[in-house]
Amino acid sequence: MIEAERQRALDAIGSEVAACTRCRLHETRTRSVPGEGSAATEVVFVGEGPGFNEDRQGRPFVGRAGGLLSKLLDTIGWTREDVFITNVVKCRPPDNRDPEADEIAACAPYLTRQIQALDPALIVTLGRFSMARFNPGARIGQVHGTLRAPNVDSGAPNALAYFMYHPAAALRDPSVEAASMRDMAGVPAALLEARKMRSASSPPVLAGDAPAADATAEAVNESVAAQSIELTSQTDLTDQLTLF
Ligand code: URA
Ligand code: SF4
Repeated sequence: MIEAERQRALDAIGSEVAACTRCRLHETRTRSVPGEGSAATEVVFVGEGPGFNEDRQGRPFVGRAGGLLSKLLDTIGWTREDVFITNVVKCRPPDNRDPEADEIAACAPYLTRQIQALDPALIVTLGRFSMARFNPGARIGQVHGTLRAPNVDSGAPNALAYFMYHPAAALRDPSVEAASMRDMAGVPAALLEARKMRSASSPPVLAGDAPAADATAEAVNESVAAQSIELTSQTDLTDQLTLF
């Protein structure tokens, strides 16, 4: 999809989310929060759900957790506008309680469609609930800062998922904040890996070449799915890595 088509698809999803009544969270929201950012991006950040400020403004990560997310992005030379930022549930759970399983399930098609529209190379999850969508059963303390093929259908068949703590958790605990800094420093390397995997799994299609191409894609998918991917050299990539 070209950028204008992606933008149209995102806008259509945004309009549906604005009027959505698929789960009980619509009853208590002020505004739903579909997500925002670049329609041309290769990277999607997925948080948990809107909080107080997001619910008021209809925009993701605009409160204190959002301030920390912007600061973390700044450490790798990126801005919010370079990426797309959204959430697992698009309406605020009352009193910031955890989203419930049926609410996450009701809202999941919107996230999948956003990811399909953007077809990102890299999905960065923020917190347990977002991690659980792409890596069910994993423990955040073990997988933060690691990269793997999502083991659910994310909507982007060639995307890799990278796991981070939620910025709100980092605000509560300096050791989690330090880990978040280190994990964010690994994002550019994760994007390079994800790009490599995409170019390996979608070789140019040449006449008469289809079976070989399929075999390559399968081999890559299998090796990628087998275990989390080693990230080498996390430092000094920032300068080399422009998002577009
Ligand atoms: N926390 C989230 O998970 N998402 C937001 O948009 C804001 C805070
Ligand atoms: Fe609809 Fe998602 Fe909001 Fe529930 S949280 S009402 S499914 S947009």
